[in-house]
Amino acid sequence: VRILHSISEVRSALGPDEEVGLVPTMGALHAGHGALLDRARRENQILVVSLFVNPIQFDRAGDFQTYPRDVGVDAAFCQSHGADFLFAPSAAVMYPEPQRVFVEPGPVAEHLCGHFRPGHFRGVATVVIKLLHIVQPRRVYFGEKDAQQLAVIRSVVADLNVRVEVIEVPTLREPDGLAMSSRNRLLSDAERAIAPQLYRALRESAHLVESRETSAARVRSAGEAVLAQCPEFRVEYFEVVDPVHMQPVLEIAGPVRIAVAAYLGSTRLIDNVLAKPRP
Ligand code: PAF
Repeated sequence: VRILHSISEVRSALGPDEEVGLVPTMGALHAGHGALLDRARRENQILVVSLFVNPIQFDRAGDFQTYPRDVGVDAAFCQSHGADFLFAPSAAVMYPEPQRVFVEPGPVAEHLCGHFRPGHFRGVATVVIKLLHIVQPRRVYFGEKDAQQLAVIRSVVADLNVRVEVIEVPTLREPDGLAMSSRNRLLSDAERAIAPQLYRALRESAHLVESRETSAARVRSAGEAVLAQCPEFRVEYFEVVDPVHMQPVLEIAGPVRIAVAAYLGSTRLIDNVLAKPRP
């Protein structure tokens, strides 16, 4: 893998007619990213991974500072998954001046993480648009684990007529169900042992939806009851939303996304599942 630091290096490395797949990341790569890289590797001539811990999407300074960083390890990971280029710009390359123009994602970012992390999706949408302009990929890959982020990107790409195909890759889970995340490595052993309950709670709620429960309140309560058994969780939200616009649903009549965010100690974990009433 060749590491590129500047925008001009990216532009001269990539020919105008090449079929490029981009996997945007903030590093701390794990098997979940591996699934994105493998899919992008299969579907494109050239695979570019970007690694940039984007300061404008962090709503807590401490979270930005403690975000795990190791470019050498991430480069080796990209190499082992067949990436051609790793674009790892500094903050001065991405933001030579304080950013003046931002992408406001609108209603899709109103609820869930968007509500609890003000400005987060504006920062994500802005950096992703910048990366798309720099790399100009044919396809860009995001994980289903960050379902609201994916919905935000789809909505921005559609509304701004960006010429790129947005591809969703299913969440990869540990054998005990915990969704893979760079933040998992921040958990203590005791927290790590409790963390899979998040997925258990989501499955409990999804089971009700599959059994054609139509009240979103009852579906939520089933999951919340699982989490209530572990007082260590500080639940931020447990919500049932429509999978495209990410708006809360009251009566369930079709597929819904059930999403949760909770703290274990100072680590914030998120997860979600898509649930469909059985025909
Ligand atoms: O999901 C992430 O790692 C980040 O939000 C992204 C998409 C790379 C933008 O900084």
